[in-house]
Amino acid sequence: MSHVLVTGGAGFIGSHLAEALVGRGDAVRVADSLITGKRSNLHHLPTVELFEGDLADLEFARKAVEGCEYVLHQAAIPSVPRSVKDPVTSHRANVDATLNVLVAARDAGVRRLVFAGSSSAYGNTPTLPKHEAMPPKPLSPYALQKVIGEEYLRMFTALYGLEAVSIRYFNVFGPRQDPSSPYSGVISVFATALIENRSPKIHGDGEQTRDFTYVANVIDGVLKACVAPGVSGEVINVATGGRISLNTLFATMRSIVGTDIEPTYAEPRQGDVRDSQADIRKAKQLLGYQPIVSFEEGLRRTVEWYRTAAVTGRA
Ligand code: UD1
Repeated sequence: MSHVLVTGGAGFIGSHLAEALVGRGDAVRVADSLITGKRSNLHHLPTVELFEGDLADLEFARKAVEGCEYVLHQAAIPSVPRSVKDPVTSHRANVDATLNVLVAARDAGVRRLVFAGSSSAYGNTPTLPKHEAMPPKPLSPYALQKVIGEEYLRMFTALYGLEAVSIRYFNVFGPRQDPSSPYSGVISVFATALIENRSPKIHGDGEQTRDFTYVANVIDGVLKACVAPGVSGEVINVATGGRISLNTLFATMRSIVGTDIEPTYAEPRQGDVRDSQADIRKAKQLLGYQPIVSFEEGLRRTVEWYRTAAVTGRA
């Protein structure tokens, strides 16, 4: 049994990590400000210890990390448009907090830290798929903040010998993703709109593409990154390796939900990347990672969850 801290563990991806860790017998602590995270995401995990607070406060970060062997740093304000609107708040949550967690992990002698990086780091690359040797070209404050986090990790490995690895996520989706904010991930927004018979908005022409990744794949990649040898200081894509346009996503979801609602096309979003598709060879080589749930199967499970949530008022 290991003691594991999941920062942002009351959020979407963090709560799935907490669930997987509890399921395999680890002792799990969650540190969360509960600004975007929700207590209810952890209700089914009564053994999880919840520390409520702000990781941009170094003392809180130290308390959260104390006694933990692994730190899975997921806490963030994970939104491109929100960072365009309010870069200062987003910087504090995504950069200041990350630096504090690194300092606390270094001082507490943590065995390994895994950081939630983002595919947005790549920006618009001249070729696809996007691989880790491509230089970062952030197009939004959020993307830049995630790159800064990765660079801090690399530096902490080099300067202090902290075992730290960044996993770049690509448009993660699944149960418990919060659909209720204007910054919510597109699949959560489409699912709830279609179930409630509303017309979802597509920004731009809908031909932009994303490597939509079902959350179980990311959880598997992160858990592998905790133990894989020789990955400290690395940045690794974890995704499916495919790409789906928003128009195709919409059509697929419409048929899963069983409705003929049409989308409403709107202005493209500022800071939006045109195409996103991961090269996952590095994850295969270094982590032994393979996607375990396909896009279609993940989408079916997700729609099913939102349907049940609509009935029970959970989402
Ligand atoms: C970006 C990052 C991703 C990061 C995520 C956090 C890229 C390639 N990916 O995702 O790594 O984890 O932010 O939020 O930059 N859209 C609509 N209608 C909606 C909502 C969104 O058309 O109601 C469009 C957006 O304009 C975008 C696409 O759907 O083109 C996906 O948007 P979203 O789910 O917000 O994620 P990204 O911004 O791609």
